[in-house]
Amino acid sequence: MTTPAAALSQDELKTLVGQAALQYVQAGEIVGVGTGSTVNKFIDALATMKDQIRGAVSSSVASTERLKALGIAVFDANEVESLAVYIDGADEIDGNGYMVKGGGAALTREKIVAALAQRFVCIADESKLVAALGAFPLPVEVIPMAAQQIARRFEARGASATLRLKDGQPLVTDNGQHILDVRGLSIADPLAFESEVNQWPGVVTVGVFAHQKASVCLLGTAQGVRTLA
Ligand code: 5RP
Repeated sequence: MTTPAAALSQDELKTLVGQAALQYVQAGEIVGVGTGSTVNKFIDALATMKDQIRGAVSSSVASTERLKALGIAVFDANEVESLAVYIDGADEIDGNGYMVKGGGAALTREKIVAALAQRFVCIADESKLVAALGAFPLPVEVIPMAAQQIARRFEARGASATLRLKDGQPLVTDNGQHILDVRGLSIADPLAFESEVNQWPGVVTVGVFAHQKASVCLLGTAQGVRTLA
């Protein structure tokens, strides 16, 4: 535990963990960078050491734009064989490091970049820590023509799936696909759940990150940064 943070807002807790994540970045590296409001804090912190790193591999158009605006070089994932570290937020994380992600619709690229990394550092405020995954609506990126049949599969197990909208139209991801948000799930076995849903035709990526769980989580709390490993 570091730096007591009794009166900090959720935004300030995100800043705290974004800055704390710098300790996992080594000079000379290319850094894997996730997506979201917490990662934005990390990107801002990373800019303070941009002359010490080679650059980043980014998980979304939004993060790429922010990185470039701050003068950090962005590499294509195909140019990189391995990353020492991938730093990203989460919508939920449990005590095993299993996560739900995709609230920002970037889950597919997040999983791709995370798969290049030897270590996944999750940064989150303490509201994201849960006893069991499933309260946050589970994002699933789908091929549009399969959306309704995938929704019916979730309904058959007692959940409800809705197409994510933006400005009244189906949200289109950076990959040109759609997102279903699934409510009412019980995810007792995240590894088995991820494996099962991944093989449904038309599923691009399910937002359970169990096979690629967090190696370490920096949790912003009222008492400071708590490290879960
Ligand atoms: C984006 C993600 C984000 O990491 C997740 O939604 C957390 O975002 P935030 O830091 O804004 O709470 O998975 O697809």
